[in-house]
Formats: sequence, structure tokens, C-alpha cells
Amino acid sequence: MKILHVASEVAPFAKTGGLADVASALPRHLRRAGHDVRVFLPLYDTIDAGAANLTPLLDGIEIRLGAHRYQAKIVVAGSEPHVHFVHCPALYARGAIYTSDADEHLRFLALCHAALAACQRMGFAPEIVHCHDWQTALLPLILKEQLAWDRLFADTRTLLTIHNLNYQGLFPAAIVPDTNFDHSAHLLHQDQLREGRINFLLHGILYADGVSTVSPTYSREIQTAEHGAGLDSFLRARTSTVIGILNGVEYDEWSPESDRLIPHRYGAADLAGKERNKEALLTGLGLPYVPGVPVAGIVSRLAGQKGFELVEEVMPDLLRRHRFQLVVLGSGERRLQEVFIRLQAAFPRQVCFYKGFSNPLAHLIEAGADLFLMPSRYEPCGLNQMYSLRYGTVPIVHQTGGLADTVRQWQPQSGEGTGFSFERHDAAGLRWAIEAALTVFDDRPAWRRLMKNGMAEDFSWSAQVKRYEAVYARLRD
Ligand code: ADP
Ligand code: GLC
Repeated sequence: MKILHVASEVAPFAKTGGLADVASALPRHLRRAGHDVRVFLPLYDTIDAGAANLTPLLDGIEIRLGAHRYQAKIVVAGSEPHVHFVHCPALYARGAIYTSDADEHLRFLALCHAALAACQRMGFAPEIVHCHDWQTALLPLILKEQLAWDRLFADTRTLLTIHNLNYQGLFPAAIVPDTNFDHSAHLLHQDQLREGRINFLLHGILYADGVSTVSPTYSREIQTAEHGAGLDSFLRARTSTVIGILNGVEYDEWSPESDRLIPHRYGAADLAGKERNKEALLTGLGLPYVPGVPVAGIVSRLAGQKGFELVEEVMPDLLRRHRFQLVVLGSGERRLQEVFIRLQAAFPRQVCFYKGFSNPLAHLIEAGADLFLMPSRYEPCGLNQMYSLRYGTVPIVHQTGGLADTVRQWQPQSGEGTGFSFERHDAAGLRWAIEAALTVFDDRPAWRRLMKNGMAEDFSWSAQVKRYEAVYARLRD
């Protein structure tokens, strides 16, 4: 099949979270399965053009969005020639992937238009255009309405994957002319326009041929008022086309046996390297290493979604009463940074907070920690709990979305299970889960069994790619 992916993030070039991992790995695995895949993302100025070894492919792409005109070029990555960058410094030289600039909508509308214009120039007739999140959610309607004349797209079907329903791309209705839909504004959601808004994600839900999310549980949750973020009724109206496909893990990058970013490699049969990584992690961060003291890790965007207010609530008391350490890597909202800055100040020998984004440190935390905390309020899929399982780093999660689909509660009687999962999102739930984990940690044979159960789980992309292939085939037929 000919498949076009359009996304705002693709690892390793541009990443703030899991979308980048998925928009990188899924196309790569589709290619391995024999499909002709092209991926488009913006050439942000934060991308290291030298490392990406860019070569020009097309130039003179003109993008007209209302009264705005942009000139773009398409360049491709030397290492991954299916990855196409839209080079348009007027929009993408901002020092960041996302901005709160007044033209944020134009930045991603331009991405959609440039990707489609490049298909026209290349004569590439995609059978599937796979859009990701609000940034590309208007693309299905652009294709249906503004490019209906072009036979190249006559057989094209669209799939919108929602990686996070809470980021919707909400803009004032005054930007409607920039969408080029001002002459067909009846196609836009009228109630919202009357309220003075346009919601990009909603139009993807309304007009994409298929809608998917990144775990089965999340696909059900978002159809409820509690988790629907105001869009549940629209999702329910399309319930037969809304499906949940769990993200996969790129085990080439995330396996302790072969990870080039950690100092000591190890596997389920020989866990000695894990302890040495733990020592390297703690020493590197300036924390004392004491054999037998468990280490909990966090690697995360610091956002409300991630539930860290529970950590703030329970951690001081837990750190006082139990012997364990906490290592946190994250960047994002200031109020959440302050939570971890305060914890580190109060418990300097037990807590280290590294503020920032660091892929090598993320790998070392996965390898060196004993426990991994993801108390997310909601989690569409979540990748770190799956990485943790592979590294023998036992996840503690809130039973929601993809966390519920990937972590099985430890059962002491049967020795089954892979982690600790609390049902109610409150401090008592998280406290229970952490204390349960610390208790099992002291029972060495039980803990080893728990680690090995997790390490034996398989969330590889090869199985998930088959599910996408099935969805693509259904959309096409
Ligand atoms: P989300 O996409 O909601 O942020 P996921 O668990 O799906 O959550 O994916 C997060 C991805 O981003 C993982 O690959 C994780 O390792 C990475 N990540 C998040 N924060 C950081 C950070 N501060 N430094 C390095 N990697 C990070
Ligand atoms: C979003 C979600 C996360 C998911 C990722 C990739 O950022 O918050 O749960 O794993 O997208 O699909």
C-alpha cells in the first residue's frame, strides 16, 4: 500500500513525547512489512540538520492560507529517506516545536498543505493518509473539499489517530479564512463557530474515514462524558469507526541487552548489569548508592495529565517512613517542576530531580531504577511503562487507558502479574501501590519473579502493525 503519515513530531528529529516515538516507529515497521510509506513533519530549527544529513527533494512549493503566502521546500533525511521535512523558516524557525504564537494554526495547516502538494509533485497517490493529533486533523476535510478535483487522491482514505484527546487545537473563529474554508464554512461545526471557536481535532473526528486511539481502554474511555473532553458525543456518534490499537515498543532502541545508551547491558537471565546501572545512575546524579535500597524513577513531560499532584501528596511521608530513593527526569509546567524541586530540597539524599529533556538519562533511569511511577490521571497509551517492563523496572500505574491494558497487577499467591496498578486516582491509591511494591521488593525471590514476568512481555510493533494494516485495508475496501 502507499501510505502517507503526517505528524508534528517524529523521533529522533523532533520529540516532546510519545507521539514522536510512534510517528517514527510505525512508518518504519510498515516499510519493513513492504509498504511504500512517506512521512512528513516540519523542519523545525531545533532539528540538527547536519546530523539528519538532509538532501533537497522539491522546492518552490507555494502554500496559500487565506491572505498568507509561504514558500516551502521539501528535504529528506539521509538516514531515513522516507522521512520528509517541510522547510519553511518563516513558520518553523521558532526555537521550539510548539509555540503560543498567534500563527500556531498556520504552522500546522501549512504542514498538511505542503505534504499534499508534495504528493502531487511526486505523483504519489496515497491509499491511506494517516493523520496524528489536532495538528493534522483538518487534513481529511482539506482532502475531501479543497482537493476533491484531483484524481490523484480519488482512492485516498484517511485515518486520524488521537494520541491525546485533551489537545484539540482550539482557535478563535476569526482564523477561519486561514483554513481556506471560508467559502465552504457550512462544512465546519456550526455551533462552535457561533460560539466564536474552531476546534481542529473535532473536524478530524467528523471527517476522517476512520478514527483510532492508542489503546483499547482509552478508545472506550473517550466515549464517556468523564474522559471525553467535550468530544465524547461526536466519538459515540462514530463508535463503529473508533478503534483502539496499542502502541508498540521499538525494542531495537529499548532493550537492556543491546541498549547503547546505558553503561552495563543485561537481560532476564543475568541481571547483574542492572545493579551496576543503578550505581552509575545514582552516582551520576550525586545520590548515595546503598545496595538493597530501592530506587523509583520518573521520566515524563510535567503536565497535569500525569497525576504528579498525588506524588506531591504522598511522597514526603513515604520518604520519611521507608528507605527508598526517587529519581525524576522531566520538563514542563513550572508548578510541577516546583513540586520536585521542593522534594529534592527536603530529601537531598533520597531525591534527585533533573529538569530537562535527555534521552540518554531516560534510558539510564529505565535501566537503573527498580520501580517506575506513572500515576497518570489519564493515559492514552503511555510508552514508559512498557519500556520499564522490558528493563525489569516494575511499573506502578494508575489503572487507566493504556496503563490498564499493559500492566497486570502482581498476584502474590500465583506469582502472576507485572506491576502495581491502583484503581482510584487518589493519594490513598498511590500510597497503597508504592507500599505494596516496597514490601514485595524485600522478598527477593518474589521480586525477581515480578521483574522477569515484565521482561517476558512482548509489546513489539510487528503485532501492532498488522492491526493497522487491517484497519487500512478496511478503509480502502
Ligand atoms: P507522553 O507522550 O504523554 O509524553 P509517553 O509515555 O507516551 O507519554 O511517551 C513519553 C516519551 O517521551 C517516552 O519516550 C519518554 O522516554 C520520553 N520523555 C518524556 N519526558 C522526557 C524527558 N524529560 N527526557 C527524555 N525523554 C523524555
Ligand atoms: C500521547 C499520550 C501518550 C501516548 C503517546 C503516543 O502523548 O499522552 O499516552 O503514549 O501520545 O501515542
